[in-house]
Amino acid sequence: MTAVGLNMAASSVPRLKNEIKVNQYRTRPSQRQSYSDGVYSRRLGEVVAVNTEPFHLATRCAHGGASGRESGKANEPFQQAIVQSTVFDLGTSAEAEAIFSGARKGYAYSRFGNPSVDALAKMIADMEGGAEALVTSSGIAAVLCAVTAGLDGRDGPLVTHQDIYGGSFELLRILSDIHRVPVEVVDSTNREAWLDAVLRAGAVLLETPSNPLMRLIDIEETVAQAHTVGAPVIVDNTVATPLNQRPFNFGADWIVHSTSKYLNGHSDMIGGCLVRKERLSAMHRTIHKNLGGTLNALDAWLVLRGLRTFALRMEAHNRNGQAVAEWLLSRPEISRVYYPGFASYSQPDLFRRQMKHGGALLSFELVGGKEAACRFLDRIELVFHAVSLGGMESLATRPAMSSHRGMTSEARLRAGVSDSLVRLSVGVEAIEDLLADLEQAIAG
Ligand SMILES: Cc1ncc(COP(=O)(O)O)c(C=O)c1O
Repeated sequence: MTAVGLNMAASSVPRLKNEIKVNQYRTRPSQRQSYSDGVYSRRLGEVVAVNTEPFHLATRCAHGGASGRESGKANEPFQQAIVQSTVFDLGTSAEAEAIFSGARKGYAYSRFGNPSVDALAKMIADMEGGAEALVTSSGIAAVLCAVTAGLDGRDGPLVTHQDIYGGSFELLRILSDIHRVPVEVVDSTNREAWLDAVLRAGAVLLETPSNPLMRLIDIEETVAQAHTVGAPVIVDNTVATPLNQRPFNFGADWIVHSTSKYLNGHSDMIGGCLVRKERLSAMHRTIHKNLGGTLNALDAWLVLRGLRTFALRMEAHNRNGQAVAEWLLSRPEISRVYYPGFASYSQPDLFRRQMKHGGALLSFELVGGKEAACRFLDRIELVFHAVSLGGMESLATRPAMSSHRGMTSEARLRAGVSDSLVRLSVGVEAIEDLLADLEQAIAG
């Protein structure tokens, strides 16, 4: 048992399957043709058929959420509507009964469901290769929903690791201390202890790469162990994103995201989502609507718009992330860099198996310790001193001061988050400008 009241124990991405099929596009039978390049084409003003090969993620993102194609109607707007309405007309008593009983798809009240929010859920489920998704008002609300759904009907504890995002750690402390939800926090760097705990789990929550230390956990191995006792595995894929890591390909049951980060990408909303590999049950939907953390239509629309450029943005993030990490490693002022994309990274085999790219989040320690870290944050000019990650602008923070402040200093140190650790979310600025700013800031 620990100071935080949680039970601490010892210490080429496969092609996406079965997404957009030819019959989801409005076609005229007489004009239907196959194209072997896997992209659709316009002919005589109509959308002409495509081959049945799935589109690449970048293509699906570029067209993401477009409303007209699937309706089969002519002259539809390309963009989804922002359905900014609390309530919906229920129609006759018989129609209302059909909507509430679930016999007919319909909307009643935006906390229960909203067309703009549903469009986002569908888009994210497609991106992750899951069957269905639920959209939430924050990443933390998504973690809460996924943990609640995962533990439903299960006796064992929620098993997680000590270096998950600080806010998720605090949420679990609340669930444990106030709601008496059994939670077991394990040092996942001790593989045996981790796999042992997973065998006792009611459900497993893991974050890989972890934020901010960028440690990896083997999803496939964890899932194999968890499924022997029927425990669902929830993977927080916020830091990796669906471009760099595909948890469902390794057997995960749920994926959670803070859409406030890379999925939206513009640092202008807070949101989250949970995606299920299998269809959602009625209980999952009940949990989602009654925990209260549903998203509003405007923010859902903003994420849909952000997703259009997701693949493009991520490619730029990946490029800059790798370049900055390698540059930091070469600097005498920096004593340690945490980034999974290095050839010298401590888990190279797992990285190659599980991730396509190291991404754009990294942490580092300056030789001068906490004082040098604070000086660095005071001197950056282009890079923002700010929390969060995944926006187009580069952001730096000291997790001990910000995201991990809610942990006791013992728990923080046990998790490896020192007072001098700096976390950098590398944006998509010109790399020369970024390196120049970092150089002047670390030289200070
Ligand atoms: C990995 C991870 N998961 C979840 C969250 C929580 O997301 P939100 O701030 O949108 O609630 C964060 C936030 O930083 C995060 O970094």
